[in-house]
Amino acid sequence: SQRTLVLLKPDAVRRGLVGEIIGRIERKAGWSIAAMELRTLDRATLEQHYAEHEGRPFYEPLVEFMASGPSVVMVVEGERVIEGIRALAGPTDPIAAAPGSVRGDFGTIVRENLIHASDSEESAQREMKIFFPSFS
Ligand code: GTP
Ligand code: MG
Repeated sequence: SQRTLVLLKPDAVRRGLVGEIIGRIERKAGWSIAAMELRTLDRATLEQHYAEHEGRPFYEPLVEFMASGPSVVMVVEGERVIEGIRALAGPTDPIAAAPGSVRGDFGTIVRENLIHASDSEESAQREMKIFFPSFS
């Protein structure tokens, strides 16, 4: 089975949607939470995490938003969980996301789209190292 890095972003925490989103993840057959912490992300961590977006117009406000309050940082484990959490989250733009997905049900703003999930096996390995350096 796979492991993936999931962030419940500061908007999800502020809006009290943590239980709702974790509930959806937990109810998927065979998926489980392997690590989890409430953590306010610092700039250095976010710059590493979002390195691919550096220089894009949305980069600075994104980093600022992501540092604006605590996030839930998690590793989720299970069958095809990388592809699976991306599907559960929905597309980046919440207005384009179908109802039934987290972003489709709860989001309107592209930046404040509630959840991050690694987009590939390679990203998952890279991101788990950033957020849980001592976790194998
Ligand atoms: P993550 O799971 O958070 O990585 O989202 P994603 O993979 O669906 O999107 P991507 O990695 O392309 O972008 C990372 C984050 O930057 C998104 O989740 C948004 O919060 C934000 N973002 C991406 N594109 C835009 C954009 O065009 N405008 C704005 N305002 N924010 C964007
Ligand atoms: Mg991404």
